[in-house]
Amino acid sequence: MTAFNIMLAPGDGIGPEVTAQAVKVLHKVSDRFGHRFQFTEEPVGGVAIERYGTALREEALRRAKGSDAILFGAVGDPRYDDPTGTVRPEQALLKLRGGLGLFANLRPVRISESTIDASPLKPEKVAGTDFIVIRELTGGIYFGRPQRRWLSEDGRAAVDTMHYTEPEVQRIMHVAFRFASQRRKRVTSVDKANVLDTSRLWREIAEETAAQYPDITLEHVLVDACAMHIVNQPTRFDVIVTTNMFGDILTDEAAVIAGSLGMMPSACLGDLREDGTGFGLYEPIHGSAPDIAGQGRANPVGMILSTAMMLRHSLGLSREAETVESAVALALADGCRTADIATDTQGLTTWQMGDAVASRI
Ligand SMILES: NC(=O)c1ccc[n+]([C@@H]2O[C@H](COP(=O)([O-])OP(=O)(O)OC[C@H]3O[C@@H](n4cnc5c(N)ncnc54)[C@H](O)[C@@H]3O)[C@@H](O)[C@H]2O)c1
Repeated sequence: MTAFNIMLAPGDGIGPEVTAQAVKVLHKVSDRFGHRFQFTEEPVGGVAIERYGTALREEALRRAKGSDAILFGAVGDPRYDDPTGTVRPEQALLKLRGGLGLFANLRPVRISESTIDASPLKPEKVAGTDFIVIRELTGGIYFGRPQRRWLSEDGRAAVDTMHYTEPEVQRIMHVAFRFASQRRKRVTSVDKANVLDTSRLWREIAEETAAQYPDITLEHVLVDACAMHIVNQPTRFDVIVTTNMFGDILTDEAAVIAGSLGMMPSACLGDLREDGTGFGLYEPIHGSAPDIAGQGRANPVGMILSTAMMLRHSLGLSREAETVESAVALALADGCRTADIATDTQGLTTWQMGDAVASRI
């Protein structure tokens, strides 16, 4: 029996509700395949601020380093919304990503036939959509310095800095090309090379990396054109690789294709081992959704599919990951829907949807 240590960070709002469904599904995986999942739970975000005065304890970071992977629910609490406040729930995520060197954010965008009606786009446009966005996560304009505001002669002024180094771009490119080699062998590198120097460096290194993967086709698309193609022709993409800020924006846009934020999984990975697996943090792309927290209305599918990504990318359990993904697809095909994707019914509760998936493992 293989034992895996998983750190659970349910967080705030609907985070604990959806995380509980992921744990339920993992118990079923362990029954069926004979693995042992050992869970340790850590308060993060608003609940951690309330208890410890900080969104993430140093001890939590140490414990995270000793685990095989982290399942992260969501953080965010309206009580800490003041942008000038010194402690904010979202700091938990940034500290985990930075402290654990998780530089690659993976967001698959897939439409299943059975939920195509939940998409706001025309079915004929989105049918067959299956791509993954690989977003650089620890560099770029969100981390570049200087970043400050001041009072200038012309009034208030502010500056942010977009900064990338060669190794930062190289490592994310290799992640993208390795993923493409296991998929349809097509990488779309997204930049703004007609304006930005960082983008021209990005493009240059994309070309150099492509030379090392002769069976992969590389195309360059400007970010504004990419935003248009994602809604107009989403089936043209296989692997999209892009910078921190462009990826942040494009992945939220891409989430709309699936009809609900609650459907979308994600993974944050660092350096990978020889076998292609590595430590990672897995979370649905949605936030803490305070408007529906505690009501049993949250869709747990994004969290459950993030758990499948954990099985595959951190624990090396591909067969188990496919089993979870098939259970989700079967439940949706059988008409199991939470309110956010239900068309003509009230929808299942979070717990019922979790049961529907778990019972199909
Ligand atoms: N990774 C994270 O933890 C993360 C990501 C985004 C936002 N946030 C935080 O979450 C809080 C709320 O932010 P927001 O409202 O902009 O985004 P949100 O994703 O929490 O919610 C946006 C909308 O989508 C709905 N929604 C989200 N997840 C759903 C699910 N699983 N099932 C059904 N409906 C769902 C919500 O009800 C809401 O109407 C903020 O404090 C924000 O900072 C955290």
